[in-house]
Amino acid sequence: MRKDVRILLVGEPKVGKTSLIMSLVSEEFPQVVPYRAEEITIPADVTPERVPTHIVDYSGTVTANVICIVYAVNNKKVPVILVGNKSDLVEHSSMETILPVMNQYTEIETCVECSAKNLKNISELFYYAQKAVLHPTGPLYCPEEKQ
Ligand code: GTP
Ligand code: MG
Repeated sequence: MRKDVRILLVGEPKVGKTSLIMSLVSEEFPQVVPYRAEEITIPADVTPERVPTHIVDYSGTVTANVICIVYAVNNKKVPVILVGNKSDLVEHSSMETILPVMNQYTEIETCVECSAKNLKNISELFYYAQKAVLHPTGPLYCPEEKQ
């Protein structure tokens, strides 16, 4: 059993990474956010899986123009969750477009549409992230490390 889970949010500038974290913490949409939220730790007893969970923000605006996600070709175990934020701004779901992408890349554990503004699927998103670590599926599973 893992003793904790670390979740890093990466993505293009202004997609709402910091807002998602602040919405989770304050349970309301923050009108003003810093570029980067301080690292937060959610205590074990308020997480669904009862594991302390650290959430780390990344700012595309202050840090970089390109994001390199680095893995070792012999041991690629970090699950990826595709998070479609700002769902309040559209009428139609992007799931139809996203599902083929998800099926093509096995490292994508799941995808979720959410809105930091409407507080939609915020706790779910962090729960999926926790679950992806604690109960990995498919090829992320290293056979020799099972159980
Ligand atoms: P960088 O730190 O610059 O990389 O951006 P970020 O991804 O942290 O985005 P940030 O949280 O700063 O949000 C960018 C803008 O999008 C802000 O004006 C937010 O108010 C707005 N925003 C964030 N989430 C949502 C959302 O769910 N819906 C809507 N309508 N606006 C949002
Ligand atoms: Mg930010």
